[in-house]
Amino acid sequence: MPPPSSPFDPARARGAVPDKETYVRALFDGISPRYDLFNRLASVGLDQGWRRRAIAAAHLRPGMRVLDVGSGTGDLALAAAEAVSPTGLVAACDLSLPMLRLAARKGDRVPAGYHVRWITGRAEQLPMPDGVVDAVVSGFVMRNVSDLRRALAESRRVLRSGGRLVILEFSRPSGGLLRWGHCVWLTVGAPLIGWLTTGARWPFTYLWRSIAESLDPTAFAARMREAGFTGVVVTALLGGAVVIYRGVNP
Ligand SMILES: C[S@@+](CC[C@H](N)C(=O)[O-])C[C@H]1O[C@@H](n2cnc3c(N)ncnc32)[C@H](O)[C@@H]1O
Repeated sequence: MPPPSSPFDPARARGAVPDKETYVRALFDGISPRYDLFNRLASVGLDQGWRRRAIAAAHLRPGMRVLDVGSGTGDLALAAAEAVSPTGLVAACDLSLPMLRLAARKGDRVPAGYHVRWITGRAEQLPMPDGVVDAVVSGFVMRNVSDLRRALAESRRVLRSGGRLVILEFSRPSGGLLRWGHCVWLTVGAPLIGWLTTGARWPFTYLWRSIAESLDPTAFAARMREAGFTGVVVTALLGGAVVIYRGVNP
């Protein structure tokens, strides 16, 4: 697939290139068949552990209703489905139909007590009524959305009072050798793995830039508070390369 103009292109502001949502959808549509393989290799097998930590932070119990925003190929949604089984329900929404199709195929192979509905939808305009879920989870999505304020407001809108939002996201280690090593990994190692697994380079250039240009954890937590979440807690993993944000809809 030829690379669409980057969402970081200044021409975007002039409307001369596709908007971020179009770019992001094309990116994930294109890499979907190799997304899981890339994740496992580029995270040296750590990514599923990060998702388990995020699910633990959501304090899910059997019978709960959960929304996974930007479910992709479904790993976080299926981990949530396990936690709320056998009576709970997970709604998993994503922009990218190819990603969702792979998720649904994976969902066909899980135990009978896991209940997941795969639905197309945007984080900025969630396809469900107010106050209907006990928890919202989201993994590696928020730096990709075109309107973070709106996405957080929507997550809050669909949560019942007292419900939790848990966001798992990449960030940058705060200093020293780790920050340097992280930069080298994401600008050289991960793009090489991406190119070898998908044959494309541009999605992995975007990966680094989307992390480098995203809000730092303090600013992200402030954005969650601004959206009305209380009790916001930030947990850094891998020296700050991965962060779990947790907040409560009062
Ligand atoms: C990096 S993948 C993460 C997938 C999955 N959550 C995981 O843990 O592997 C990001 C996903 O978010 C989706 N996405 C990006 N922006 C979105 C938006 N505004 N609304 C809904 N989904 C979005 C993409 O299509 C993609 O499947």
